[in-house]
Amino acid sequence: MSLLLKALQKQNTGRPPVWLMRQAGRYLPEYRELRSKYSLRDLFFTPELAAEVTKMPLSRFGVDAAILFSDITVVAVALGFSLEFQEGPKIFPAANPLIPLGFSPEKLEPVIQTIRLLKKDLNIPLLGFCGGPFTVASYMVGDMDKTLSWMRGDPKSFGHFLDQITRVTCVYLQMQEEAGVDAVQVFDSWANVLSKEEFETYSLAPLKQLISSVKIPSLFFMRESKAFIEKIPCALSLDWTVSLKEARGKTAQVLQGNLNPDFLFLPLDQIREKTIEILELMRNDPGFIVNLGHGVKVGTPVDAVECFVDTVKNRPLA
Ligand code: CP3
Repeated sequence: MSLLLKALQKQNTGRPPVWLMRQAGRYLPEYRELRSKYSLRDLFFTPELAAEVTKMPLSRFGVDAAILFSDITVVAVALGFSLEFQEGPKIFPAANPLIPLGFSPEKLEPVIQTIRLLKKDLNIPLLGFCGGPFTVASYMVGDMDKTLSWMRGDPKSFGHFLDQITRVTCVYLQMQEEAGVDAVQVFDSWANVLSKEEFETYSLAPLKQLISSVKIPSLFFMRESKAFIEKIPCALSLDWTVSLKEARGKTAQVLQGNLNPDFLFLPLDQIREKTIEILELMRNDPGFIVNLGHGVKVGTPVDAVECFVDTVKNRPLA
């Protein structure tokens, strides 16, 4: 069995597996070259291109998992909205309580076709993913302040909106599972703006629905999850605002993380040092996956990523 799946079952006795959030992206010259010829939407919705981008970091770094090249906002298309990328994702029209929602998961078929293509020739696990419904809602509304005003001012219609996103996302995850992904990660990146009570209703409750809609292992990522660690019912991807040791004291779930992506701008010997620090901290932990605490940043030196991955893979066990 692969290291990633062993770790996800808390049965890894060897070195921890390593992959990076946003491991395919603009810091890679081969990505920038392809990106100069196609729009982001074309890359996400053309199976051959999305599969090619997914594979870019694999041969270069020898990471232990591939993550589907797509975006959390693509589900908006299955809800009847159109999606463009400018600075970031732009969804039209902006969602509000009066706009009716569609339900057409089959519009995500090109993404599913990407998974099928990848499964034909990958020899490491493939991660699927989706957005947490709250974070997707915030991109559909287009503005976080407006999203929170809607949520707090008209909880009934917001709850209905979130339920629709959750329902289509559950089907989307099931389609990914059926096409062959080995595990899924739920990115509720902006759930940190919610109060404790709001988190239960608008992030945790949908998360429970999402993870119970599939049989494969699930991981969860949000910014600043410290206050919520005990509550997360699946593997947890941590950012650097909490130490792995403290998190391990609070949960028996699989942990993933958590180097600050800015560390990849340090000199290589310091990257090695920081990486060894987290390896030491989690030594002999059978449910640990090495990753960053958020996505690789634009401008990250490629040799820094190489050094990070190599340190995890080749460091002799002391
Ligand atoms: O991790 C991976 O390599 C898989 C691919 C992936 C993308 N987006 C590709 C992408 C994943 C897992 C995502 C998730 C995603 N998308 C999240 C959750 C994780 C996080 O970063 O918090 C969010 C919030 C989004 C929404 C989104 N998509 C934003 C805000 C932006 C613009 C900012 C940015 O980082 O560029 C995007 C565009 C996007 N999605 C790019 C990529 C590689 C940029 C590519 C480009 O401009 O060429």
